[in-house]
Amino acid sequence: MNAAHRRLREATGAAHARVDALFGRFDLARRDDYAGLLAAHAEALLPVEALLDQGGAEAITEDWPQRRRAGVIQVDLDALGIILPAPESEDSVTSDAAMAGMLYVLEGSRLGGRFLARSIPDSWPRAYLGSHQPPHMWPELLEKLNLLLYEPEALETAVTAANQTFGRFEAAGTKWLAKVA
Ligand code: HEM
Repeated sequence: MNAAHRRLREATGAAHARVDALFGRFDLARRDDYAGLLAAHAEALLPVEALLDQGGAEAITEDWPQRRRAGVIQVDLDALGIILPAPESEDSVTSDAAMAGMLYVLEGSRLGGRFLARSIPDSWPRAYLGSHQPPHMWPELLEKLNLLLYEPEALETAVTAANQTFGRFEAAGTKWLAKVA
């Protein structure tokens, strides 16, 4: 494990444990819960992807367009008849180091998503949780983040952005869990 990965993983471990526990409370045998989980992920994911688009995340990893999941989550939301309000526009000045932290969280979230996809009845739309990418894409991203985050200050900026990104998932998950309860 490279130095940036180790620091990001350690510094966001508590946040990961919280979102893991939170999203584990959605009962994926119930369609409403599944819809709520997707709505929560979309609410957190879409604005972060928009920031990465505006900030030029291709400069960090040229395959950013292939990593985006706004399209696949929209397919599932449409299939389930979920209409979300357009995300509020946000300050789009984002440093490369902050984008690195966001990319770490979004791409890492695929790893747990694979497990969740197995709990969903076969007939349900699963473009988002089922969207696999070649296994080399995760270690390649971590290598790029390590090259970018060699200065301690940049690494701490990434850690802050990563924890803020986890915070978006936690806030959205808390809100949608209450709605489907
Ligand atoms: C029920 C929900 C979740 C479960 C069960 C879960 C489970 C997991 C598991 C098993 C891994 C390790 C996979 C591996 O090393 O191959 C992982 C990694 C990760 N997950 Fe989750 N996860 C969940 C939700 C999330 C969410 C909502 C996010 C962020 C939005 C997230 C972000 C991450 C990150 C960043 C990593 C990479 C950790 C590292 O190795 O540095 N996870 N998750």
